[in-house]
Amino acid sequence: MPALPSILTPSLLAGQHTRLAESAAQVAAAGAPWLHLDIMDGHFVPNLTFGPQMVAELKRELPDLFFDVHLMLSEPQNYAEAFINAGAQLVSFHIEPTLDHRALLTRIRALGCQNGLVLNPGTPAEAVEPYLADVDLILVMTVQPGFGGQSFRRDMLAKISRIDAWRRERGLNFRLEVDGGVDARTGPECRAAGADTFVAGTAFFKAPDRAAFVRDVATW
Ligand code: DX5
Ligand code: ZN
Repeated sequence: MPALPSILTPSLLAGQHTRLAESAAQVAAAGAPWLHLDIMDGHFVPNLTFGPQMVAELKRELPDLFFDVHLMLSEPQNYAEAFINAGAQLVSFHIEPTLDHRALLTRIRALGCQNGLVLNPGTPAEAVEPYLADVDLILVMTVQPGFGGQSFRRDMLAKISRIDAWRRERGLNFRLEVDGGVDARTGPECRAAGADTFVAGTAFFKAPDRAAFVRDVATW
């Protein structure tokens, strides 16, 4: 199966939180196809961000962006539907909390949304291996989730390669996303390891020419 084209999904976490619609509009204006929305509960991660109403209102203003919603929640099963109703087109949740992951993957698709499973840096690739045939996306965290602006963890590259190898061997076509410290230097390393979907918060919003940054991702 040929490699999927690279997609940039700028993280709104690095936008201006009193003007999130303007930050999301900057993502669209730069030509990025996706918008990454980090949802935190102050429990699974030690931080808080925004809820379904914020996502719904942003979606109304930016209907053409693909909403990639990353749930960092201890109980994602209680909130996934609210985010789908708000306009999420992909909902990813973590493998670490105890819940029926397969049931939630199935339910997200049944609600007409793409699904994804996320691994923290300390979680081995094997944890998601049984689910690979049933996902639209695997997200490998390249920092400990909770905050933007952290340093990329190069020791995650082997995990990316491992999951990409399973994908090839099995002829699967889920997307392989990376999140945390991704920039023009680390992004190409992730691409070489097999990633095709790149979350970038700080690197996108601080880029001197955001449209050029989006275009460059195609060359990673
Ligand atoms: C971290 C979030 C990331 C974050 C990435 O918990 O999941 O999406 O916004 O930010 P940068 O790109 O600044 O590392
Ligand atoms: Zn994220």
